[in-house]
Amino acid sequence: MIINNLKLEGKSSKDIANLIYEELKNIDTTKNDVLITIPEMYQEVSNYLDKYDFEGFVKTSTLEDEDNNDISIDIVEKENFVVAIDGPSASGKSTVAKEISKILGINYLDTGAMYRAFTYYLLKENISLTEEEIKKVIGNINIDFEKDSVILNGEDISKEIRGDEVTKNVSRVSAVPIVREVLVDLQRNISKGKSIVLDGRDIGTVVFPDAKYKFFITATAEERAMRRYKDEKSSLDKSYEEILEDLKARDIIDSNRKISPLKQAEDAHFIDSTEMTLKEVVEKIINIIRGIDV
Ligand code: CDP
Repeated sequence: MIINNLKLEGKSSKDIANLIYEELKNIDTTKNDVLITIPEMYQEVSNYLDKYDFEGFVKTSTLEDEDNNDISIDIVEKENFVVAIDGPSASGKSTVAKEISKILGINYLDTGAMYRAFTYYLLKENISLTEEEIKKVIGNINIDFEKDSVILNGEDISKEIRGDEVTKNVSRVSAVPIVREVLVDLQRNISKGKSIVLDGRDIGTVVFPDAKYKFFITATAEERAMRRYKDEKSSLDKSYEEILEDLKARDIIDSNRKISPLKQAEDAHFIDSTEMTLKEVVEKIINIIRGIDV
């Protein structure tokens, strides 16, 4: 689409930005990228465009072509892409990942919830947590997501999987090779043909080593324990010290297991969130994805 120079003459940068904005309203920016090419003489227009809040990407580029003073708006079908967010317990990954998926208008998969659902099933059925016993029942476990809910064999278990027993045992279960095999397959299947944000421990290293965007978010154990303590104060009667101990124990198992340990992918952006607010972490990630701060 071209906005002809004749239509632009005599208009202020702000008016031109409004004109472009009117055109953008009709474009589904969750499915498309929009490339706006602005001639050098209207460069100031891009400053105004930056002030609008769009879902999806809008890229502007200036043009140095003296014969062409039109503004062009090109719509490019968005390629599916994966955003991998890894990191230790309570580093804020899940909240950040959810927020990112909302801003970009793409899907979100909480892979930790899948390991928790598996653990919940095994505990509920009194199955001992060995590879041999787990293998016998693995075909009976069906995990699904509906909006924000986690469904196990048709039952909504979103609350149950956050319980203490599950939290205590999940790292043991997730170190069992067959569990990882089945869940990694499921994660890849769910993600097929979509743009998606996944958070976990091994997304950038094992599940999607070719993910377009990779982040590793961490914070000190004390800061993470404090965050979890504040989050769960009303629902759990655990002291800060107990939470810190649990979290350190889980860090050790997750980081030292043989298969897919918690580890930063070499090409992941490292974010230490100890001194950052959630909003700052989200902003940093969005800027990197949009190519504003690389
Ligand atoms: O509660 P928290 O946010 O720390 O953890 P989670 O993301 O709900 O994950 C729970 C547990 O699942 C982790 O401690 C890991 O043992 C395991 N997990 C994993 O092994 N691989 C993943 N991709 C995600 C979680």
